[in-house]
Amino acid sequence: MSDLKNIREQFLSKLKNDLSIEEINNFKTELFGKNGLISSKFKSLGSIPEIDRKQFATNLNQIKDELQNLISIKIDEINTKKINEKLEKEKVDVSLPGRPFARGKIHPVSQTIDEISSIFSEIGFSVEEGPDVENEYNNFTALNTPDNHPARDMHDTFYLDERKELLLRTHTSPVQIRTMLKDKPPFKIIAPGRTYRSDSDQTHAPMFHQVEGLHIDKNINMGHLKGCLNYFIKEFFEVDKIKMRFRPSHFPFTEPSAEVDIGYEIKDGKIVIGEGDKWLEILGCGMVHPNVLRNVRVDTSIYQGYAFGIGIDRLAMLKYGINDLRAFFECDYRWLSHFGFDPLDVPTNYRGLSR
Ligand code: PHE
Repeated sequence: MSDLKNIREQFLSKLKNDLSIEEINNFKTELFGKNGLISSKFKSLGSIPEIDRKQFATNLNQIKDELQNLISIKIDEINTKKINEKLEKEKVDVSLPGRPFARGKIHPVSQTIDEISSIFSEIGFSVEEGPDVENEYNNFTALNTPDNHPARDMHDTFYLDERKELLLRTHTSPVQIRTMLKDKPPFKIIAPGRTYRSDSDQTHAPMFHQVEGLHIDKNINMGHLKGCLNYFIKEFFEVDKIKMRFRPSHFPFTEPSAEVDIGYEIKDGKIVIGEGDKWLEILGCGMVHPNVLRNVRVDTSIYQGYAFGIGIDRLAMLKYGINDLRAFFECDYRWLSHFGFDPLDVPTNYRGLSR
């Protein structure tokens, strides 16, 4: 009996000290482990004379409960203390200035592509895409461009193999071929994307952007082409009136072919579109050549239509007052944060989401 009392007193005083979790766990093992002081007392119950046994067992249970209780209280205390210390240390100082973070901007070319796509989609064009790496057939042959045409010259085209079968597309026109081979007429699509030519100065970059347009149906004529481009240019530049001029030109894949200029003037050092007597070339177009339609098995006795190819970078430069094309592709972060667009701002004539 006095042995039990000793154990109790010894551990009560031990548990009064400041203890770590490890120390408490050690006490736990010392008392209640397999051969612990309390556990072995339970094991010895059988050897205690019967008259004392009941009392001994009652005392033993009381002491066991008391010590177990104390131990779990002690563990709770330590855990609470730890949490409080942590809270104290990790307190947030709300008066500290926030950490700045860089928010991305939309590149003017991406912005312009979005604007162009939304304008054309309003008048029934859907958007198609084609790969930057094209085969010679789609880029030239199917587009009625003969073998000896200067556009095929090494000077302009980046070829990717010795046999000149693969190349970086020199225009978006191969998407006309891909679209017409894939589906049946009518077709009414635009195809924006990257294009490549071996050329570089203030107004030419070896990689640039075009948007192709193709409208093939019954009874489509040049009047439709003019109306469509006129509508597009007015919407794009957000003006009511536009001066537009169709100049006869030549492309192997259109007949007749034209280049389109728009009228502008410089007012207070800024370009004003739609007025003045200066002309700026912005696109090539024409009625799709019957040879092209035959190459993609479109029945020319039923279907005809127009195509156009617009230089996107040019349009972006004009609309947003950027005067060196090369800046578009230099990836200068300062330039981008000045000319780029906030991703959360909906552009003025972007109606894709708001309607
Ligand atoms: N592909 C021509 C170019 O890159 C533009 C064009 C497209 C002309 C469609 C006529 C029809 O210059």
